Amino acid sequence: MSDVIRFILNGEVHQVSGIDPTTTVLNYLRYHVGKTGTKEGCAEGDCGACTVVLGTLKGEEVQYRAVNACILFLPVLDGKELITVEGLASADGQLHPVQQAMVDHHGSQCGFCTPGFVMALYAHYRNRGDVSVTSINDAIAGNLCRCTGYGPILTAAQTMYDYPAPKEERRDAVERLRDLQSGEPLDLAYHCPRTKTDKRFVTPKNLEQLSAFASELQGATFLAGGTDVGLWVTKQQQILKQTILTTSVDEIKGIVEYDDEIEIGAAASYTDVYEVLESAYPEFGELIRRLGSTQIRNSGTMGGNIANGSPIGDSMPALIAIGTRLVLRRGDKTRELPLEDYFLGYQKQDRQPGEFVERFFVKKPAPDTIFKAHKISKRFDQDISAVCGAFSFEIKDEEIGLARICYGGMAAIPKRATACEAALLGQPWTLQSVQRAMEALEKDYAPIDDMRATAQYRLSAAKNILLKAYLESVVRPYPTDVLAADEVFHA
Ligand SMILES: Cc1cc2nc3c(=O)[nH]c(=O)nc-3n(C[C@H](O)[C@H](O)[C@H](O)COP(=O)(O)OP(=O)(O)OC[C@H]3O[C@@H](n4cnc5c(N)ncnc54)[C@H](O)[C@@H]3O)c2cc1C
Ligand code: FES
Ligand code: FES
Repeated sequence: MSDVIRFILNGEVHQVSGIDPTTTVLNYLRYHVGKTGTKEGCAEGDCGACTVVLGTLKGEEVQYRAVNACILFLPVLDGKELITVEGLASADGQLHPVQQAMVDHHGSQCGFCTPGFVMALYAHYRNRGDVSVTSINDAIAGNLCRCTGYGPILTAAQTMYDYPAPKEERRDAVERLRDLQSGEPLDLAYHCPRTKTDKRFVTPKNLEQLSAFASELQGATFLAGGTDVGLWVTKQQQILKQTILTTSVDEIKGIVEYDDEIEIGAAASYTDVYEVLESAYPEFGELIRRLGSTQIRNSGTMGGNIANGSPIGDSMPALIAIGTRLVLRRGDKTRELPLEDYFLGYQKQDRQPGEFVERFFVKKPAPDTIFKAHKISKRFDQDISAVCGAFSFEIKDEEIGLARICYGGMAAIPKRATACEAALLGQPWTLQSVQRAMEALEKDYAPIDDMRATAQYRLSAAKNILLKAYLESVVRPYPTDVLAADEVFHA
């Protein structure tokens, strides 16, 4: 066990001990080492002002990703490389191409958001992203600017690759990071004099250690990407007395493809799962693209979305519609259940003390499967769903042989629409069948009014996205077949 957090900050090794383990990386930078370039706007992962780039050793290379420092706890940095806006210019003061492009194209006015944009774009640059509007938009969708109107920032982003390559980009990061790796978990103990509480934060390095800590520290908070848990601390001022990090365990970060299913470790980030899910279910990929922002998807995990059990978590409708098995572990025992059975009631899940989500298995689509997913929210990016629906149908001999439909935002849990499914089974795949199924949704759900939508809006939206799923399946590509769509409406 070690009680020293070791990481590289802008090229220099930092060793930190005796610190409150739920200190955010943002507060460490600003208040402990005086690096005030990284800004705090919202402290909840929404504005991107705190964006930094995290380098993680992956085999023979370092993977660089933009993350929100405001909801990242310091011990997560152990064994990693952290790059902040102060680390971009070369030693002689020459700006990095990202910075120079921002200057040349007037991408900064008051400047408050600028370090965050620069770091989000720097991650894009390091990963040699493409300069399509979609790729750039995705890179900075998690960054807000109240001054520029975004146009100049987009221009800077599209031209940054035209500048001469930066003078210094350390090439020895792999070796330096390898020196920092240790098979030993961190076990950090801290007494907070202000709140008079004792805190413990552990970072198991394998499944066995994770199980052992989970059994020993029953009631501890599991921490994956922290995109929910981070806010409990920064916004709700909760004190986490015992925290077990799961993303330090490689065994539950993997993604394995089998012939008929995909195994996903609970601690795999959205960014990691995107490609494999997108290739099996393109519409699931699109849903993931709309979940949070690049920074949130780089830290956040689907395992965390599942474990959190929120009725408006966006992964669950799609995972349940395609048939997902969940694996829970306690000690050396595992048990398996269909994902929908995990959710028992509002904020109540079928998980025992000391038990954790280990992995889940997603079914690959059978031939003739139609899969659609739609998220209804006020904004395209960085917004929580009012309603999210996912639909999986198998059509055999023009009849609906299988229908699995699940909605989020319609009940206290992500819930299958069993009456709607029953109305479709064995029926022909026609508009009339779908219209009957839309009515059946009224038996499945009694949604509530809240700040995101009224109950009536939710029910109408739920019906309409089912209709949309049907229309998309019979009419494509849009809009060349608009006339055909019109015919369907008047059928
Ligand atoms: C700005 C912003 C935008 C967001 N946008 C969206 C969105 O569009 N859609 C959406 O659905 N969500 C959204 N979220 C919420 C959040 O990103 C997701 O719920 C995410 O999947 C949580 O994953 P995580 O790894 O960060 O979990 P964490 O925050 O680390 O943990 C979440 C919960 O799961 C528990 N947990 C984590 N791993 C395990 C495990 N292996 N076993 C048992 N328990 C575990 C934790 O104890 C905690 O209760 C957003 C959050 C932010 C801050
Ligand atoms: S301060 Fe707004 S995202 Fe971190
Ligand atoms: S330049 Fe002022 S907030 Fe972006």
